[in-house]
Formats: sequence, C-alpha cells, structure tokens
Amino acid sequence: EQRQRLLVVANRLPVSAIRRGENAWALELSAGGLVSALLGVKQFETTWIGWAGVNVQDDVGKESLSRALGEEGFVPVFLDEQTVDLYYNGYCNNVLWPLFHYIGLTQDDRLAATRGLEAQFNAYKRANSIFAQVVLSHYQKGDVVWCHDYHLMFLPRFLKEAKSEMKVGWFLHTPFPSSEIYRTLPQRSELLQAVLKADLIGFHTYDYARHFVSACTRILGLEGTPDGVEDQGKLTRVAAFPIGIDAERFVRALHTSTVRNHIQELSRRFSGRKVMLGVDRLDMIKGIPQKLLAFEKFLEDNPIWHDKVVMVQIAVPTRTDVHEYQKLSSQVHEIVGRINGRFGTLTTVPIHHLDRSLEFYELCALYAITDVLLVTSLRDGMNLVSYEYVACQDQKKGVLVLSEFAGAAQSLGAGAILINPWNIVEAACAIADALNMSETERQERHRHNFIHVTSHTAQLWADTFVSELNDTVVEAELRI
Ligand code: UDP
Ligand code: G6P
Repeated sequence: EQRQRLLVVANRLPVSAIRRGENAWALELSAGGLVSALLGVKQFETTWIGWAGVNVQDDVGKESLSRALGEEGFVPVFLDEQTVDLYYNGYCNNVLWPLFHYIGLTQDDRLAATRGLEAQFNAYKRANSIFAQVVLSHYQKGDVVWCHDYHLMFLPRFLKEAKSEMKVGWFLHTPFPSSEIYRTLPQRSELLQAVLKADLIGFHTYDYARHFVSACTRILGLEGTPDGVEDQGKLTRVAAFPIGIDAERFVRALHTSTVRNHIQELSRRFSGRKVMLGVDRLDMIKGIPQKLLAFEKFLEDNPIWHDKVVMVQIAVPTRTDVHEYQKLSSQVHEIVGRINGRFGTLTTVPIHHLDRSLEFYELCALYAITDVLLVTSLRDGMNLVSYEYVACQDQKKGVLVLSEFAGAAQSLGAGAILINPWNIVEAACAIADALNMSETERQERHRHNFIHVTSHTAQLWADTFVSELNDTVVEAELRI
C-alpha cells in the first residue's frame, strides 16, 4: 500500500541551521509546539518545507545546506535578511502574534508600529509567495499540501491560483481572537480572503473556529454555515482539530538509562524539597512574570514552605531580535533577582531560572521528578508542555496547575487545577492546594488527564485533519 504523500509547509523547519564553515552545517532541533507535534506524525510520506532560521547568501552555502537538510526530508526556503526582519520579526511576531493572543501594545508602540506596517505586510506577501514557489517545485499530482500557522495565511491563495486542483489545508496553531479584536487589523480582509482559498481550515478549539467564522461573516459579509464559510456557492470547510503529542515517545524515554540517570541525579539535588516547574519559550503569552509573582505571594503567605520547595523555570530563548521579547527578558530577570534576594539563604534560592533549552532526555527527567507543573499562559493556542508533563507523570502523579486561557484547559481541565493567571492571590492558593493535595486526589486527577493525553495524540490529529481534507475535496467535486 502506498502512503499518502504530504507536503508540510511551516515557517519553521524542525531543525535550525548554524553555519560552521563554507559548506559545513550544524543542525539544532527547533523549539515550539508546532515542531514537536508534527515530528510525531510518521504515517505519511512527508516532505517538510520551511525556513532554516539562517541567512544564506551564497550558492555554495545554499547547495550544501539543501543537501544536509535533504537527508532528513526537509526542504529549505531561503529568505534574505531584510525580508526576515519585516516579515518574521515585524508582521508575524510584532503584529499578528500579539493580536491573536490579545496582547495589547501600548498606544505609543502601536502608533509607532503603524507607519512601518505597509512595508511589513508587503514583505509578508513576498515571503508567502517565495514559500509558494518552493511548494510548487516539489508538488506532485495527488499530494496533500498542509500549510501551518499565522506566518502563511497567503499561501493557500498563491497555491490555488497556480494550481486550482491542489488539495490545500491550513491549520492555525495559535488562538484566533474574537472578531472585535481581529477587526482592528488594517489588512483584516485580505488575510481572510487569502486563507479562505484553502479547502479546509483547522483550529485547536471550537471557540477559535467560531471566532474565525464570525470574522468572515462580519468583516467580509460572507455566509457562515455549521460546516464552514460559504462564498458564492463555494464552501471552505472550517473545523476544530485539537492537537496532541507523541505520548509513546515520552513514556518510552522514561525507561531509558539516560533518563533514569538524570532522574537519579535530579532527585538527589532536590532531595527534601518539592519541585515546581515551568517550561516555556520566553514569550509574553506565557505569563512568566505573573507566575513569578504568584510564587512570591505563595512564599509570603506560607513561611513553612520556605526551604521545602524550589521552583525551576526553563525559559527557552525565542525571537530575540524583537524588542518586546528583549524587554520581557530583562523584566523577568529583575523579578527573579528580587524574589531570590528576598527569600534566598546562604545556601539555597527559591527560583532556578535558566535562559536555555534542554535536551529531550533532560526534559523528560525534569518532568518526571516534578511535583507541580505551572502553566500560566495569558493566552495559548493549546500548550503542549502540559500534555508532555502528564505523559511523564504515571509514577509520581504530580499536579498540573493550568491557566484557563490555554487551549489545553478544555481538554485537561478535569484533572488540572484551573487558574486565572492574572489573579495572583488565586494562583498562590492553587500552588498551596497542589502541594498539599492528597495522594488519592492526585491519582484520580492524573488518571483523567493521562487517558486523554495517550489517546488524543499528534498522530490521530494529523490523520483526522488529512482524511477530512481528502473528504472535503471529494465532496466539493461532487457538488459541481
Ligand atoms: N521544548 C523545546 N525545548 C526546550 C523545552 C521545551 O523544544 O528546551 C518544547 C516542548 O517540549 C514543547 C514545545 O517546546 O513540545 C512547546 O510547545 P507549547 O505548545 O507548550 O508552546 P509553544 O512554544 O508552541 O508556544
Ligand atoms: C509557536 C508557533 C510556531 C513557532 C513556535 C516557535 O508554537 O505557533 O509557529 O514555530 O512558536 O517560534 P519561532 O518563532 O521560533 O518559530
């Protein structure tokens, strides 16, 4: 039996390249939920098309990098430095990302950004058309083309204009905001019209899908139906496809000697203390300052816990050329410094803050020894860190404290303690409740979530999306 050919198109390739010489490259695993979930999808014959996170000008470099990536089934899209700055740093990460996560820039910052917007939007379209050209040069009849995320909203339009029979799906990994927020975007109509050229549009939750359909009806005046959005008899199917993780991979890793050794080492280091953990890209959507303030409040209110608990925060550096991310980094460091200064002793500090990423095996070990995971996202498409934690907790049955503003609150809400991360009094109480929770209750809550995480996997997510896309195309042909 032949496997379905799938072209995955995302801004970010699973590996980012670092140049070591004229034609020597080091490849590093990229961070983020999109990459982790899609790497778990193995049932298709997949070609992955995306940007390798590096500026390459010369032909020798382009050829050697293409060769190195080609061995892994990855195809690079080359973008020049100015395009990356306007498209990726500018339009994607300073405009769409904050807007989709309900993050307001200050009036001054937004006003300042307004003047550069047109150039950024033009670069966004230009980048999308460069992606389209690369897709077209790899496309074969019958392929499914699956476009991902807010970076590539013009891609469905460019692809369909070039090849109307192509099966094109688009999936958004972030929230889609209420149309009342979305409609402030100057380019609101063009973006919706471009993405509507896809055959199937997917979101993590039903709410995001509903917001998208209302944006189309209110802004474009189109008709919303239970199946999607209709424009002059042509239906674009819109639906929710909650993502998951490759849970097996985590469960398997826990049995390896590497992870066992890490677990032993960490347990020894933290012995006598409960471990609370945060794992986030250093992004304003993750509510890291709010999490730190909640922990500080908890320490204030619970002196008896002072030398019995430690909080480990892994803050993976991300989008470091964007000003807002640089500001966040100093803000977080300042708060960590203040709390450690206030509650530290000669030999211990309450917060271990790391500005770095972890190896997969280290991460698994850390998840496994953690008593309480803190996810305080102010908005988050899904949040896969919460899923990964659950997958690694079958022994310990630790507690998940989870923001109600993460997509995961809809799937793991039954087992987690849900919080509003803006309410640091509530969050501090949730920390206390989590640390004091009885074993029976922990087991019961964990069981709920473990069943969910191990049954709603990344593989199932991709199967469902791709077969729905195939069906949608067949149905559309029947309707003509
Ligand atoms: N992650 C990583 N490197 C690290 C720590 C975490 O690649 O050092 C991964 C983590 O395992 C998870 C992803 O980054 O799969 C984060 O996904 P999530 O959905 O929680 O948030 P996102 O970063 O996509 O906003
Ligand atoms: C989120 C986005 C992804 C992105 C990831 C990492 O998960 O949905 O599209 O790849 O963050 O961000 P970066 O800008 O480094 O690709």
